[in-house]
Amino acid sequence: MRLIKQLFWVFAVLGLLFAVMLLFSYDVIKLEWPSFMEIQPSYKPMEHPLPPPARSIPIEGPAYISLATPPDNPVGADETSLGRGAELFNVHCKMCHGETGAGNGQIAPFLLTKKPADLTSAAVQDKSDGELFLTVSNGMPNTMPALNENLTVRERWDVINYIRTLRKTQ
Ligand code: HEC
Repeated sequence: MRLIKQLFWVFAVLGLLFAVMLLFSYDVIKLEWPSFMEIQPSYKPMEHPLPPPARSIPIEGPAYISLATPPDNPVGADETSLGRGAELFNVHCKMCHGETGAGNGQIAPFLLTKKPADLTSAAVQDKSDGELFLTVSNGMPNTMPALNENLTVRERWDVINYIRTLRKTQ
């Protein structure tokens, strides 16, 4: 009889401890503990990426391009480049700038701050390849996203070669 009584108390105490532990594990009593993934600094897609670490060497050209003079286009507008450019344009630009580049892509109506530029217009076509390259690489503040993470350097030049074929013919 005494043994049973002792066992009862042992289990009662263990059970109580267990119940208290459960209160914590199910956040009934919530301890602020910095162990959650969501509170670390993070970057969402299309948000400006982290600057590259000091002294790192990018293999695809600078991640941030702030050149005094826009670069020259090193990629010839041959059949390969234009073919790739067309495909990449359809993937990365068409939804905003439209099939023909006229600025009437599928999501253009939903862009409220600024409508996508008409890429067939003289305003855009009169710019140099290098200027267009910088626009595609760096984006434009609060309107067009920077696409330097979506397109490699070579791919950006291919797209620019393709944009040249969209020039409005008057
Ligand atoms: C999310 C929609 C969106 C996507 C995707 C997008 N653009 Fe744009 N783009 C814009 C908007 C909006 C503007 C107008 C920005 C402004 O005038 O401030 C613009 C402007 C431009 C301009 C005009 C720059 C100037 O100097 O007038 C060029 C060139 C351009 N985009 C090329 C491209 C290319 C090439 C791609 C694909 C690789 C692309 N864009 C993808 C929204 C987009």
